[in-house]
Amino acid sequence: HIEAVVFDLDGVITDTAHYHYLAWKQLADELGIPFDEDFNENLKGVSRVESLTLILANGNQSDAYTDSEIEDLASQKNEYYKQLIQQLTPEDILPGMKELIEEIRSESIPVGLASVSKNAQTVLHALEIEHLFDYCADVAKIKQSKPDPEIFLTVCEALEADPAQSIGVEDAKVGVQSIQGSGMYAVGVGSYLEQADLMVNETTELSWTQIKQAFLHKQ
Ligand code: G6P
Ligand code: MG
Repeated sequence: HIEAVVFDLDGVITDTAHYHYLAWKQLADELGIPFDEDFNENLKGVSRVESLTLILANGNQSDAYTDSEIEDLASQKNEYYKQLIQQLTPEDILPGMKELIEEIRSESIPVGLASVSKNAQTVLHALEIEHLFDYCADVAKIKQSKPDPEIFLTVCEALEADPAQSIGVEDAKVGVQSIQGSGMYAVGVGSYLEQADLMVNETTELSWTQIKQAFLHKQ
């Protein structure tokens, strides 16, 4: 049987992946660095400072800033992001996600959150769904970022679930790699996730019955 289901947040439960994009876009424009949705694909699931490092490299500005200037630029992006997420309400939960999580919970399967965002709790609070998670990864304690499996393994451990009997849901390529590296079954939502065990284009296509069947079929 299934021992846990662990969700990513940004781009899976709510479309904050788009707000991260807009905030980075604003910063990149100010720095004169080209930035588009395609490049942004590389940043999904990637931590704040690592994302900035990739953006600077893309603009051939890797050596243009001191460490403390890089911190300031990362904070600047976070200010833009925080502005954007101020407008979040429960209406911004992606279609079907709340119902999906409630259905899983109704079968007494523990539900976890594996987001590397330092804004994760603010977002969950704005969406009014904090109570739907039995455990949320503590970013401060995660040493290796996705695609390393650490974050998904940590959440499984906290939920006392065997990763091999658990399912992870992600919208990022590095996220799918993190899930699979942990030995969990990977469900991908969105594009460029061919590597996932089960892939859908949109959250509306996620059906708990189907996920369960696909998972059990793979065993
Ligand atoms: C998630 C998002 C990334 C974001 C990261 C850190 O993984 O997919 O786009 O860079 O969290 O978010 P934070 O809110 O801490 O800057
Ligand atoms: Mg994501």
